[in-house]
Amino acid sequence: MKRLIATAALAMLAVPAFAEGDAAKGEKGFKKCKSCHMIVSDDGETIVKGGKTGPNLFGLPGRAAGTADFKYGADLVAAGEAGLVWDEANFVAYTTDPKAFLQETLGSTSAKSKMSFKLKKGGEDIWAYLVSVSPAAE
Ligand code: HEC
Repeated sequence: MKRLIATAALAMLAVPAFAEGDAAKGEKGFKKCKSCHMIVSDDGETIVKGGKTGPNLFGLPGRAAGTADFKYGADLVAAGEAGLVWDEANFVAYTTDPKAFLQETLGSTSAKSKMSFKLKKGGEDIWAYLVSVSPAAE
């Protein structure tokens, strides 16, 4: 029995050990996002009440860019169609400067983003928070 508990505890530790971000800090950091983004699960449970200017960020980890039920800009949709799937690295790069990220991703200096907000720091933490409230990515 003792061994079983130890194994379970180890298995639980193994997941956060991968992520660099701190989900608790990210939950606070998400205050910067919620004027435009909500987090509402597929069965309609509100995890964070937020605005509708941007897409629902539930289940973002592992999701192709520009694929939630939202009127995205054409360039973010194009990036998703070209294979952009959200992971920690591209999420941090995108939230730091969405327009520059899309321009780089699409190799086009005319690419535009509908998200005008730029996050100065703490992207890893917000990523960890989104992972913690989302179903496990495949
Ligand atoms: C002023 C409003 C606003 C704020 C604040 C904002 N966003 Fe956005 N966000 C948007 C809009 C609008 C889009 C859609 C962009 C497009 O279609 O080009 C978007 C798109 C995104 C996407 C792409 C989602 C997808 O489905 O592909 C991510 C990821 C994202 N935002 C993360 C964040 C995070 C994290 C924060 C807080 C640090 C944040 N945003 C703050 C408006 C905002």
